[in-house]
Amino acid sequence: MTQGRRGPTIVVSNRGPVTFSRDEEGERGHSRGAGGLVTALNAVLRRSEGAVWIASAQSEEDAAVAREPAPYEVEDLRVRLVEHDGAAYDLMYNTLANPLLWFVQHGLYDLPRSPRLGDDTREAWEKGYVPVNRNFARAVAETVGDASSSTILLHDYQLYMTPLFLREELGDRAEGAFISLFVHIPWPEPDLWGILPNYVRRGVLESLLSADVVAFHTRGYARNFMETAARVLGAEADVEGGTVRYAGREVWVRAYPISIDPDEFGQLAGSEAVLEQERFVKDLPGRLLLRVDRTDLSKNVVRGFEAYGRMLERHPEMAGGVTFLAQLQPSRGDIPEYAAYMEAVGRTAEEVNARHGTDSWRPIELFMQDNFPRSVAAYKNYDVLLVNAVRDGMNLVAKEAAVVNERNGVLVLSEYAGAHEELGEHALTVNPYDLDEQADALHAALTMPEDERRRRAEALRETVLGNTIDDWVEAQVRDIEAHRGHRG
Ligand code: F6P
Repeated sequence: MTQGRRGPTIVVSNRGPVTFSRDEEGERGHSRGAGGLVTALNAVLRRSEGAVWIASAQSEEDAAVAREPAPYEVEDLRVRLVEHDGAAYDLMYNTLANPLLWFVQHGLYDLPRSPRLGDDTREAWEKGYVPVNRNFARAVAETVGDASSSTILLHDYQLYMTPLFLREELGDRAEGAFISLFVHIPWPEPDLWGILPNYVRRGVLESLLSADVVAFHTRGYARNFMETAARVLGAEADVEGGTVRYAGREVWVRAYPISIDPDEFGQLAGSEAVLEQERFVKDLPGRLLLRVDRTDLSKNVVRGFEAYGRMLERHPEMAGGVTFLAQLQPSRGDIPEYAAYMEAVGRTAEEVNARHGTDSWRPIELFMQDNFPRSVAAYKNYDVLLVNAVRDGMNLVAKEAAVVNERNGVLVLSEYAGAHEELGEHALTVNPYDLDEQADALHAALTMPEDERRRRAEALRETVLGNTIDDWVEAQVRDIEAHRGHRG
């Protein structure tokens, strides 16, 4: 390998750790990005001195930061923002990445009717996804500078073409670079991947196989990926050994189940903002059934409400004895399917409330707004947590909630959430398509004897504490070193 200056670790994701704005006095301010991925990547950056986080500019002030030459120092982080052409970003985000890739990878299409791929798809690929990924690759290459050895950690499905473009941009410097791409969403079975037009289907795989490591949250997704590469590209996959050989290179395919920082959640749980919200949560009548999600179709909120309605129908004695609190963070509202889904969520909640509610009891309390302190307050107090995603890369809510819950809460968990590989044994498993099974599971969870609740809740907590965000980072760092050693 080329000897010379080792460059900083570079982390790249579409959404960054902060969004900048200007206040009335013209001062630059910022707010922290929310979400599990941002928290997890923060942990990666804390581990490597001088690391730079590259992300898309999302606001006008972000764009001003993007035009500044050096990485911006904020909250102990060095952030470099990339300004994309507005129309290109819109095509990438609202047509190609979400919905197309997201829908295919979460199995959300109503296949006899959609998707209907055509010129729009090709345009979104060529004028949106490709140039946005090219911008990321250029920004990374500029940040690498003249360093002959660099560690570049790319994240998620918005960046699938970046590994390929990055090798082109780096030229000779690619030899000493370690490039990984972490896919944070499910990787589907090869038949589902086959929905995509050929140029996306092959283009993405060829790009991913120009990385050194492709990573997933579960062994199941890693296996699906290797089988897809074999099927679509004729790549040589060693599924047991976790390697794919393609175009003269060997790529490692790994599973690192992402997790949370228990200390951070411990502190949050005791914060003033959370304590204030706890008063509201504790006042809700009866046992507390909770869900906390983005308003995403993959989260399966409508079926969750329907299953709850069924449970109330079969068990009239539960009336007044339970409240379903749904804390939903609005998401991707510019995409018609998401807007329609939000309406369906509201409508279904109203139907259940109209049918089963009384003057003194509303069966579902639905909030479609961001209120993280209230979510954490509810984490502490739920009796049952429902995670019934159609598919979910991991689902960090299940892990966050398990470590702060104070009531031996029971987890009702979809067999198709990534978290099921680790937590399924201690949860009540449900098929997210089966309303009756979910209704029965909700009833069983709400009426479970205390000793069984305690046993399950303790096992969930221990499982999460046995694989924290630090373990997630360390496993990857070990493999990066092993990979460098392997290349010699
Ligand atoms: O992990 C999945 C993911 O899509 C991330 O890539 C993303 O930042 C997060 O969920 C929230 O989605 P969005 O950035 O589209 O709001």
